[in-house]
Amino acid sequence: MSDQQQNQLWGGRFSESTDAFVQEFTASVGFDRRMYRQDIQGSQAHATMLAEAGVLTNDERDAIIQGLDEIRAEIEAGQFQWSVALEDVHMNIEARLTDKIGITGKKLHTGRSRNDQVATDIRLWLRDEIALIDGEMTRLMTGLLDLAEREAATIMPGFTHLQTAQPVTFGHHLLAWFEMLKRDRERLRDCRKRVNRMPLGAAALAGTTYPILRERTCELLGFDGVCENSLDAVSDRDFAIEFCALTALCVTHLSRISEELVLWTSAQFNFIDLPDRFCTGSSIMPQKKNPDVPELVRGKTGRVNGHLIALLTLMKSQPLAYNKDNQEDKEPLYDAVDTLAGCLRAFADMIPALEPNREVMREAARRGFATATDLADYLVRKGIAFRDSHEIVGKAVAHGVDQKKDLSEMSLSELRQFSDQIDEDVFEVLTLEGSVSARNHIGGTAPDQVRAAVARGREAIGG
Ligand code: ARG
Repeated sequence: MSDQQQNQLWGGRFSESTDAFVQEFTASVGFDRRMYRQDIQGSQAHATMLAEAGVLTNDERDAIIQGLDEIRAEIEAGQFQWSVALEDVHMNIEARLTDKIGITGKKLHTGRSRNDQVATDIRLWLRDEIALIDGEMTRLMTGLLDLAEREAATIMPGFTHLQTAQPVTFGHHLLAWFEMLKRDRERLRDCRKRVNRMPLGAAALAGTTYPILRERTCELLGFDGVCENSLDAVSDRDFAIEFCALTALCVTHLSRISEELVLWTSAQFNFIDLPDRFCTGSSIMPQKKNPDVPELVRGKTGRVNGHLIALLTLMKSQPLAYNKDNQEDKEPLYDAVDTLAGCLRAFADMIPALEPNREVMREAARRGFATATDLADYLVRKGIAFRDSHEIVGKAVAHGVDQKKDLSEMSLSELRQFSDQIDEDVFEVLTLEGSVSARNHIGGTAPDQVRAAVARGREAIGG
């Protein structure tokens, strides 16, 4: 790239060419070329509007639109010569258009600045990515619902403090994961509303003297409305911050699920099996089958949280309006998008393939005195105050620990040592099935409630 060419877009004011390192240092084309499709889409809409406003002739408009179509094809065929000297995706495409169609290409930028152009491109790009992410989230949520329905009556221990607490159904546990994702998808859709606003027309910062028709461009690009203030339109990146915030939350949720999958696939828990295709082996220990996918997703939480902090810090204290700082918004945002999309895709593929070891789960619930609360509630129904029944059951558990016996394995006379209110009917409440089925209200773990929640979940997903 010659100096002459290098300065062609602002050369008038300059008496020497940009320092070679500064050129590299300030360029963003290495990464923002990723938005070439949105850049072309925005330019074509802008040219269409300019012709309707009488700023361009129809012939000029047609030449621009066709030239840009050809440039898109060149890029997609890998034939486009990206130039660092032309700094970013916007100037690369514009310069190529002028190469191709001559002076008309130079008219495209009428009534526009790279400041409103880049803000528009990034919103168009993020909107497209949000649609893909929404699809992957929904696929994962559907997988969870299907599995929850299948495992509605599968018993496992429920934990608090990672100690066995009460029996729950595996379906109920899966639906807890579903709820987390349901909120994540709500946040994604809510964020989209603020992403889908059009900065174009703000120009550099103050608007433009040309008789532009912003509503028309807005309609052509499918935005829900225009950004109402030109200074704000070109400068704020809060929509990107918001996206990173919801991404951090969603990956945090996935990290919690991951942690459970890692624990449950261990030989010590052995609650589930992950098919080999989601695992790797060890180069030294032949017995190993490592749950790499959940581990990696757990690990990726850190980088996404980092991107959120990066963007918050980037925005902090920036005076109005556009500052070059904002060029730093792209890499964190791109990586947040890629990371979230990748994690969701891996999970959406893996979750339906997960195989519970139902007997092991059931046995773990049985071994852990998981029905102790049920016995306490039973005694309350027999007229004993809850604090007293808690004490009675505590003693029975201590006896069980001593004798290595679960409550359900004790004889009636053994149990009656602790309270003479205990009768033959106690054995119904001490069964795992009795325990889960008794929690039969909305949000409870009973198999019927799980099935009802799956049905509600399916409705929510469709909406
Ligand atoms: N590459 C720039 C960015 O990513 C485009 C806008 C540059 N505007 C400017 N006046 N230098 O933000």
